[in-house]
Amino acid sequence: MAFIECKNLSHVYNKGLENEYKALDGINLKIHKGEFVTILGTNGSGKSTLAKHFNALLQPTAGQCLVEGMDTGDEKNLWDIRGKVGMVFQNPDNQIIAAIVEDDVGFGPENIGMEPHEIRRWVTAALKAVNMEEFRHFAPHLLSGGQKQRIAIAGALAMNTECLVLDEPTAMLDPVGRQEVISTVQRLNQRQGITVINITHFMEEAALSDRVLVMKQGKLVQEGKPEEIFQNIEAMKKLGLDVPVATELAYRLQKKGLPITKAITNQEALIEALCQLK
Ligand SMILES: Nc1ncnc2c1ncn2[C@@H]1O[C@H](COP(=O)(O)OP(=O)(O)O)[C@@H](O)[C@H]1O
Ligand SMILES: [Mg+2]
Repeated sequence: MAFIECKNLSHVYNKGLENEYKALDGINLKIHKGEFVTILGTNGSGKSTLAKHFNALLQPTAGQCLVEGMDTGDEKNLWDIRGKVGMVFQNPDNQIIAAIVEDDVGFGPENIGMEPHEIRRWVTAALKAVNMEEFRHFAPHLLSGGQKQRIAIAGALAMNTECLVLDEPTAMLDPVGRQEVISTVQRLNQRQGITVINITHFMEEAALSDRVLVMKQGKLVQEGKPEEIFQNIEAMKKLGLDVPVATELAYRLQKKGLPITKAITNQEALIEALCQLK
């Protein structure tokens, strides 16, 4: 069974009103446990709307979204689903509630009535997992954007989440913060088997994932491994999207006759390919 499955999922905002708008149109997809999936698409293509279906913040207006077989449209599944799938949003300042880091991370567990010593245990493990233990007693507003996003991730981990859905978590961060967040997410995926769904505009982040989904006007239009998706630079450009700089450079060098044959999606691979040229 897929961890998340969308079957012919559509979402219409303001249904029946004059300003009704179909933001998702017949989405079919499966995301498997332990996968690291990236969702790409230009602004307004429906990425955030889709992401909000994964933890039942939104319900389909047609079709289905299932999380481990549980229908997100069935109200009795809401808390089970939200316990399995945690969301992290773009703006780090909008998702921190408490005045002290440990209270913020412990907010979810406290809300579901966990015993104080249990909360402490989960908070410690969650802060450790995002490398933020030493900031336990800090005031969140003193932290950098990347640190705040890691606290938001810890908040989901403290709820024993199995899946992180990150909606442009690095969009507001500087390069250092971006690197911190993305390597944290990668580590959680690789070491703890957390399923990751990352929405991003940074193609270098997409290149790190197992699979890339591309959206356009509410539809899923492409799906594949990063190297497959990025290989077709013209198709990506038509969709209004870029490819990693290394991919584009390799492509142009190939066109000029350099014998680079491998699919290149990152800087290291490009350097290696160039160094091997005789
Ligand atoms: N709450 C809403 N009410 C009406 N329309 C919305 C709402 N949220 C998003 N939309 C519209 O749905 C479309 C998809 O939006 P969104 O899922 O946010 O796209 P993305 O995250 O890819 O930028 C956009 O045209 C947007 O204007
Ligand atoms: Mg969005």
